[in-house]
Amino acid sequence: MSSKIVFKNARLVDESIDSMGSLLVDSKSGLIKKVFLNDEAIEDVSEATLIDCKGHTLMPSFVDMHTHFRDPGQTQKEDLNSGLHAAVAGGYTTVVAMPNTSPVISSIAAAESNIKRAKKIGLADLYQSMSITKNFEGKDTSHLDNLSELEKNLIKVISEDGHDVLDAEKMLEGMQKAAVKGLVVACHCEDPKLVPLARKARNSCDYVKAEILLHKAEDTFTERNLQLAKKAGCHIHICHISTKQSIESVRCAKENGIHVTSEATPHHLGLSYEMQGIGHQLVNPPLRNEKDRLAVIAGLKNGTIDCIGTDHAPHTLQDKQNGACGFTGIELSFAVCNTTLVYGGADWQPKLKDVISLSNLSKLMSANPARILGIKKGQLKEGYYADLVLVDPEKEFKVNSANFKSKGTYTPFNKRKLYGKVLETWKAGIRVFAEKKCLG
Ligand code: DOR
Ligand code: ZN
Repeated sequence: MSSKIVFKNARLVDESIDSMGSLLVDSKSGLIKKVFLNDEAIEDVSEATLIDCKGHTLMPSFVDMHTHFRDPGQTQKEDLNSGLHAAVAGGYTTVVAMPNTSPVISSIAAAESNIKRAKKIGLADLYQSMSITKNFEGKDTSHLDNLSELEKNLIKVISEDGHDVLDAEKMLEGMQKAAVKGLVVACHCEDPKLVPLARKARNSCDYVKAEILLHKAEDTFTERNLQLAKKAGCHIHICHISTKQSIESVRCAKENGIHVTSEATPHHLGLSYEMQGIGHQLVNPPLRNEKDRLAVIAGLKNGTIDCIGTDHAPHTLQDKQNGACGFTGIELSFAVCNTTLVYGGADWQPKLKDVISLSNLSKLMSANPARILGIKKGQLKEGYYADLVLVDPEKEFKVNSANFKSKGTYTPFNKRKLYGKVLETWKAGIRVFAEKKCLG
């Protein structure tokens, strides 16, 4: 049997293409062989398997810099199997898993164990990140000392996500080690001293005070971490950026040559607390005000914010009732971003004045995060991996989180109307997800 696959009759969209065309893929190598735009004649494909995309939109699949799979230790919330199924249902074939598992991923062996198990499941590539300090204790960075070249390719990111490192000296030490090894330091920027005060305010229902404290917590520690990264000369990636001020700090840092990238989550660009009611949707950073939300959108448009990171943070409903922070997000990420940024808003959102193109969204969800990780994905280009997602960007649907593949069903978007359905997901030329009746 031929190893050639031809995706025909597709609207091909990536960061620099938006055109009808066909894609030739070699399933043996898993790579894109050729892109044919418009009516360009497809070379000899007599032996090829033909996939008729029926006019739907074929894009590079999405790359997530920020996801939580809770494995090991909290697999009642999510495990690698459910998480990877959720990822491909959301059109993602590459995910960076955060290390705030139980125990924390603080050793190469623990990271490798997850990577190996994910490989066996085989749906999406998992890059397991390791903590900056051992067990998130803020004291010891010696686990970063002996990373071989090979291991460096598997573990590209270190992060203390869920918290920040209080001690600036320790953070600097971790960043200096990351600079030597070429690791990305993904920072959850939040002054840990203000967090208990915000929690106290939240518990006494003073949500406005909690919000002011958490605003300050992000602004001050974004700036601190940027300055430490400058000193260390490392690549800092600012996670889930959510305030106007911290976006401004990143803009200045970029201007001053600091190696910084940043991400925004679908919930921070799609929702503000004015839309949701302040304090009622627990997530960290919290949903911000409309001004901040518009600043996030502006940052995504002008390149200050480089990519979308889902911060997929599944919890059981009981844990949510008990105050756990985080939303399940990877399965709705495309629809929320497409609805907000490309469609310009659903009926429950303020209408956006200037929308972005689907190509631009592809850059934010695929090309840019792939660049950050240094992988040959995220573009429809010869020699790149045939990691693809077939979508219907116009398709309207009402979210029903009971249908999620994820074990976590809590999302503020439940029952809301969104636009944009993932129909199929392909990894290295192999179909890893198909929605029922997808091409009908
Ligand atoms: O809301 C959040 N949930 N923010 C984080 O930073 C961590 C995450 C989690 O792990 O649940
Ligand atoms: Zn996170």
